[in-house]
Amino acid sequence: MSSKLIAPSVLAADFANLQRDVEMINNSDADWFHIDIMDGVFVPNISFGMPVLRDIAKHATKTIDVHLMIVDPDRYIKTFADLGSNILTVHYEACTHLHRTLQAIKAEGMKAGVAINPHTNVSLLEDTIKDIDLVCIMSVNPGFGGQSFIENTYKKIKQLKEIIDRNSANTVIEIDGGVTNKNAKQLVEAGADVLVAGSYVFKSEDPIQTIAGLKEMIS
Ligand code: DX5
Ligand code: ZN
Repeated sequence: MSSKLIAPSVLAADFANLQRDVEMINNSDADWFHIDIMDGVFVPNISFGMPVLRDIAKHATKTIDVHLMIVDPDRYIKTFADLGSNILTVHYEACTHLHRTLQAIKAEGMKAGVAINPHTNVSLLEDTIKDIDLVCIMSVNPGFGGQSFIENTYKKIKQLKEIIDRNSANTVIEIDGGVTNKNAKQLVEAGADVLVAGSYVFKSEDPIQTIAGLKEMIS
């Protein structure tokens, strides 16, 4: 992927002003909406579910990138397609039959993503990499926004890039967690294609400017 992308994480938005925040993303230099779905089982937190995503999708004018932090994601693949997801990412750690899950996601017309926890080695993706449109490397433990970035991520990006190149795959590398202006450039230099940013964008004084700054830094 030649141009590098920014995906603000709606988890850090103001849910009492959700339409305003969705429109802010529409009007910004951001490329995707990153939507975190948590079930309180796979991760120790519950975010929001289908009705909220349905209403976000009603207003969003950009790609909807859904990150499922739930057990048994196969149960909801069709539902998320119907709700308007363009990319559906499941966790490696939550899938017993990952290859089958990836095919099921694509059969619903979505791009298929796989997220890996900080403890999961990228080498485990070698045998499925050609079937994966996006790998989301978690640079924090999933479940919460606002955590600090895990430095080992750079090494994982480089290892994943080697796997992608070795297999002539077209997989996009997304980094999720603790992304700020302090690490964005270095992440892209290491091989990242998409940076998810939650708190750094939404807790800033001027989110539109913050997104523009990030985008400029990585182009
Ligand atoms: C964490 C989520 C992230 C989170 C990122 O479980 O997957 O997408 O919203 O938030 P920040 O950028 O605040 O780390
Ligand atoms: Zn996420």
